[in-house]
Amino acid sequence: MAGNWKMYKTPAETTAFFQKFRPLVENSGHCEIVVCPAFLSLAAAVEAAKGSTIRVGAQNVAWAKEGAFTGEVSGPMIRAAGATHVIVGHSERRQYFGETDQTVLKRTQAALESGLAPIVCVGECLEDRERDRTEAVLERQFLQGIAGLTEHRFANIAIAYEPVWAIGTGKTATPEIAADAHRAIRAQAAAKYGKTAGGSLRILYGGSVKPDNVQSLMAQPEIDGVLVGGASLDPVSFASIVNF
Ligand code: 13P
Repeated sequence: MAGNWKMYKTPAETTAFFQKFRPLVENSGHCEIVVCPAFLSLAAAVEAAKGSTIRVGAQNVAWAKEGAFTGEVSGPMIRAAGATHVIVGHSERRQYFGETDQTVLKRTQAALESGLAPIVCVGECLEDRERDRTEAVLERQFLQGIAGLTEHRFANIAIAYEPVWAIGTGKTATPEIAADAHRAIRAQAAAKYGKTAGGSLRILYGGSVKPDNVQSLMAQPEIDGVLVGGASLDPVSFASIVNF
């Protein structure tokens, strides 16, 4: 159960979140919890999560370890801050910051080289869905991006299916729509990396996940977890999603 805070919460707000959130998920041994704050709040989150099972992730990672890349943050820097995970290729990065399938692959490789667990995002936009191109888009994102990983590396990533039309819109994909897309992604993974790797791949659903729809989503065997935006900003709401 992962929370993507996007560009919200200062370090002080991060600390305040954890004070409320920790006691609410103390007994949530059924799942892994990852909170992904902005870079500048990573250290505060790591400090506030100390002694708990909550993990901290970044929202992006540079494809190089260091160098002349103004504005970028590298895997070793993220690791040094104490984070263990990173979101790669979020649709907001693809839409607004020129992220492509190729850069998503490079960033994913860099994350793995730094020992970070990547959550790689894929998903179609509304126009693709309306034109019945969802599977084609997912296939392109997989083949031109993720499929460049070696089999060994592929075993260490999770994929998040986030239909762009469902993000921040209040329009959640129905559990059936989400499960269909997850099946398609798993089939691609199995075709490339074999049935076992496809079967053990973890696929999260993201897009307007809320406390009142998480149960029906998680009831789908195809859905292994969720990547939550807006509803992860409030400790009570994110805790009730974690404890669905
Ligand atoms: P919302 O839950 O706000 O729709 O955002 C989803 C998302 O983009 C998570 O990465």
